[in-house]
Amino acid sequence: MGCSEQLNCLGAGAARWRLQRLGNMALGVSGRLGYGRRMETIHDPFALFDTWLAEAVAAEPRVPNAMQIATADADGRPSLRTVLLKGHSPDGFIFYTDTRSRKGRELKHRARLVALLHWKSLERQIIIEGRGVPVAGTVADAYFASRPRGSRLGAWASEQGQERGPGVLEARFAAEEARFANRDVPRPPYWSGYRIIPDRIEFWQGRPSRLHDRLVFVPGETGWTTHQVNP
Ligand SMILES: Cc1cc2nc3c(=O)[nH]c(=O)nc-3n(C[C@H](O)[C@H](O)[C@H](O)COP(=O)(O)O)c2cc1C
Repeated sequence: MGCSEQLNCLGAGAARWRLQRLGNMALGVSGRLGYGRRMETIHDPFALFDTWLAEAVAAEPRVPNAMQIATADADGRPSLRTVLLKGHSPDGFIFYTDTRSRKGRELKHRARLVALLHWKSLERQIIIEGRGVPVAGTVADAYFASRPRGSRLGAWASEQGQERGPGVLEARFAAEEARFANRDVPRPPYWSGYRIIPDRIEFWQGRPSRLHDRLVFVPGETGWTTHQVNP
């Protein structure tokens, strides 16, 4: 089971809950922190994702939900940036952004993208390949409403990726503050989320002597199938 899409469910309480609930999963048999010899019993990439994210929340001091997203333009020129994972479930992995940004423009023409989460202290990475599909307006509204007022005003003030002169952003922020004084800050029409609908998920666990584990999930006829690949 994944997070609610509306909530940033990466708090310590949620992490503890997940660790307890998933504590019996196959962990730590072959590798120090890996999924071990019982990996053939793991058929649900989302449950494994839950476990790893919960452990990252417990282990990483800052933004364990940071992930790098690669997109490409019409000529195939790649671009890359960090965003925050703000929801996940078997339906996909959600992040939010300004849809006028470079990533937003590229996703409009070419939905394929790759996301990578790397947790250094756990010697782990997860690579998610798939398509980035806009979330429903109601989903974006709910998440936007949960953000601090300053972040909501900032979303109105900034045209992500556009060149700007000195002081312009601060002036625009002040103007938005005045415009929305004493009332709620709604979601800008250009600010929304994308759901990554995966068609390949790789879990990488570092192990001694470069005998790293790579567990790959791809869709099969009746659900996800798994195989290992060499490190
Ligand atoms: C830790 C971290 C988290 C970030 N989270 C987000 C995010 O959730 N959404 C977003 O639009 N940008 C986020 N950014 C900024 C992006 O990396 C990037 O600068 C911005 O989205 C513009 O990207 P683009 O011009 O390639 O589209 C984050 C940056 C960092 C370093």
